[in-house]
Amino acid sequence: MSMELRTIRDLDARERKVFLRADFNVPLAAGRVADDARIRAALPTLRWLVDRGAKVAVCSHLGRPDGQVVEGLRMAPVAARLGELLGQPVPGLRDCVGDEVRRAMAGLRRGEVVMLENVRFHPGEEANDPEFARKLAAPFDVFVNDAFATAHRAHASTVGVARHLPAYAGFLMEREVEVLGGLRENPRRPYYVLVGGKKAKDKLGVLTDLLGQVDGFLIGGGVAFTFLVAKGYAVGRSVVDAGLVDTIKDLVRKAEERGTRIFLPVDVVVARELSAQAETQVVPTEAIPAGWMGLDIGPATAAAFAKAFQGAGTVVWTGPMGAFECAPFAKGSEAVAKALASSPAFTVVGGGETGELVEKLGLAGKFGYVSTGGGATLDFLRGKSMPALEPLWAA
Ligand code: 3PG
Repeated sequence: MSMELRTIRDLDARERKVFLRADFNVPLAAGRVADDARIRAALPTLRWLVDRGAKVAVCSHLGRPDGQVVEGLRMAPVAARLGELLGQPVPGLRDCVGDEVRRAMAGLRRGEVVMLENVRFHPGEEANDPEFARKLAAPFDVFVNDAFATAHRAHASTVGVARHLPAYAGFLMEREVEVLGGLRENPRRPYYVLVGGKKAKDKLGVLTDLLGQVDGFLIGGGVAFTFLVAKGYAVGRSVVDAGLVDTIKDLVRKAEERGTRIFLPVDVVVARELSAQAETQVVPTEAIPAGWMGLDIGPATAAAFAKAFQGAGTVVWTGPMGAFECAPFAKGSEAVAKALASSPAFTVVGGGETGELVEKLGLAGKFGYVSTGGGATLDFLRGKSMPALEPLWAA
């Protein structure tokens, strides 16, 4: 498959009414945007369209409201932040289809931008309902898709609207596909994937699919404890997905056959409970005391991982190394973030939570690439189909 997308460079945007799908599924705190990285990432596309005199309506989802209006998931705070970043007002509409949208688009002048209401307030969005897609597309001339982080979803606003409107990729979509596509086709080796986070089942699927592509996995975070159990260790009260132990044994066997390295933690930070006040100790992984649970990788593990990064050509990182939202268990994630930031490897951060973490540490600029996608990035890297890209490939 050609990796060339039809982009907005090919579009004469002047006076065109543009339906711009972005992924502004951002964290909110106290009614404000807590991390605007995804909004900033879409600015080049927005500025390009504005500068060329397009009339733009931005469409996004926010959270998972399940086809109903959820007051706390309205796009208003996002519209406000977008307006600040863009340096022009971005009025928020109260719906994403219907008369209000039609009227707003008819009244828009060249270079003006409005924000549609959360598209997942309608059940037709996730169902990719053709009638809903028709309504979404009705007031517009062109569909521009810059929502890489939602490109693994076949929804009305990512796929359905392309039946009704000529479709173009934005610059963020183009860059994500270029960088991550490059990793799929020709990564600098050795190519390592550093995996953390809690959802062992999801992560295991990713590891299984990536086995044929990478030279090694480094495993931290909650998912590591199920690997340790598969190795025959007692892990106290650490979170384990017992149903996955056989699958992990199988994966480890296949990795050994292929010569794919698997780095597991050699020490961990343990506590009796997940709390900022909890008593903690660092123990070797083969000596986790009964009644204690592992909540972060230990310093020896962080050092071993850092050494591996020094010899790597490419490292993709997804998922924190511990319960980093709680200060005593954040050190492992911080240590690997710093080690990656100073490693000679091409470093890629994939995953919303991991992206937030490196932003918070002020290290995002030190990585080779910080993807805006979470699930989408992993799906793309592991070669799964990305339905929203289909209408965008250049003929
Ligand atoms: C994300 O945050 O990964 C994307 O916005 C997709 O969100 P979803 O998993 O709710 O579809």
